[in-house]
Amino acid sequence: MTEKWTPESWRSKPIQQVPDYPDQAKLTAVEAQLRTYPPLVFAGEARRLKAHLAKAAEGKAFVLQGGDCAESFAEFHANNIRDTFRVLLQMAVVLTFGAACPVVKVGRLAGQFAKPRSAPFEELGGVSLPSYRGDMINGMDFTSDARNPDPERLVRAYNQSAATLNLLRAFAQGGYADLHKVHQWNLGFVAGNSGARYADLCARLDETLAFMEACGLTSETTPQIRETDFFTSHESLILQYEQALTRVDSTTGDWYDCSAHMLWIGDRTRQADGAHVEFLRGVGNPVGCKAGPTTSPDDLLRLIDILNPANEPGRLTIITRMGADQVEVKLPPLLRAVKREGRSVVWLSDPMHANTVKMGDYKTRSFDRILAEVKSSFAVHRAEGTKAGGVHFEMTGQDVTECIGGTQAITEARLGDRYHTHCDPRLNATQALELAFLIAESLKDERSQGRTVAQAS
Ligand code: PEP
Ligand code: CO
Repeated sequence: MTEKWTPESWRSKPIQQVPDYPDQAKLTAVEAQLRTYPPLVFAGEARRLKAHLAKAAEGKAFVLQGGDCAESFAEFHANNIRDTFRVLLQMAVVLTFGAACPVVKVGRLAGQFAKPRSAPFEELGGVSLPSYRGDMINGMDFTSDARNPDPERLVRAYNQSAATLNLLRAFAQGGYADLHKVHQWNLGFVAGNSGARYADLCARLDETLAFMEACGLTSETTPQIRETDFFTSHESLILQYEQALTRVDSTTGDWYDCSAHMLWIGDRTRQADGAHVEFLRGVGNPVGCKAGPTTSPDDLLRLIDILNPANEPGRLTIITRMGADQVEVKLPPLLRAVKREGRSVVWLSDPMHANTVKMGDYKTRSFDRILAEVKSSFAVHRAEGTKAGGVHFEMTGQDVTECIGGTQAITEARLGDRYHTHCDPRLNATQALELAFLIAESLKDERSQGRTVAQAS
């Protein structure tokens, strides 16, 4: 029999990746303080995202989830939020064309402040200090002061998330996200060197917009052209924070984690009997779970049973991150098992997290391998008769040099030019958009191949 869930039932389960707070009394006080703060999102919005995700599970929508690896306090600025949001919109328009269906936009934004780490301590020059776990926990500087987990940072993360979300809502609904504007930005990209080879797709969108206008569908007459839906998500890692923002929805009487619309469980904290799975199983939000090369079909089915026992479409997204070399071997058994059991999930491809390599002093990822993992995932889904529901990226609107490749041809030697990430290497604005164009082409090919197969059978 399933044990009763409460917002704090996770506390009696084994837990991984927790910071060791030296001042427990302060932590308790901060949790109490956060419990009195307003929710950041409304449960009805989370349900709306779930309905969109249900469409993606059926292949009738495509999900674009992306944003920072780790948001930071230092880079908190309206321009940074605007630039990441803008690239996500640009990518979404391009992907809409490729997928020929609505694109559901979910940011790794307004709450993505905590990182799982491979080692609890970092050694430097004979000194050992707690690893940096993200700005909501400790600081990046290698001093014992900075590395000490400080509960006050949870409050700062909440405040920054609230301000970020406020701006995102204004952008999404206030006219900044107008399709014509986004299209103009894409034309600007195509006019630059990096985008020249994507002119064809942009020209087709030009024609489509002109046709729509001729039919009377303009920004003035059609809210769908003027506004967009934008949702937030982050890894549900610091459960004290998540619990404090978990509230009963007055409309349904169910519990929702109101820190973001969607929460996910990382590859390092997805133990079926562990605290992170326990926490998310009880909230009504759409939830995600990463699946890496060590996830067996049985592991995955067990997680699905726990996280989506009612088999509700849109409730559960499986974010696969196998690595470009392994995806063709590791993904098919998972897809087969889930299909065999008749379980509804949204399948996203995260081509970032299993393609990280060390080059000199830097962690990096290659554009080609990122693209290769996405393309292979699509091909595997086609072969297995399952739906590729979308993609998950670590990216920024800034012109950083953290991933190698793309038409800017960022090389190992240039990584140091503008390497700003607080954790993993992100695609820069040009690389992210270029990838969207290439994925759109690939989606278009997949559609035509799918049609050919359907006609032949
Ligand atoms: C992440 O998405 O930032 C992350 C740490 O991923 P994973 O859990 O897949 O390693
Ligand atoms: Co990451």
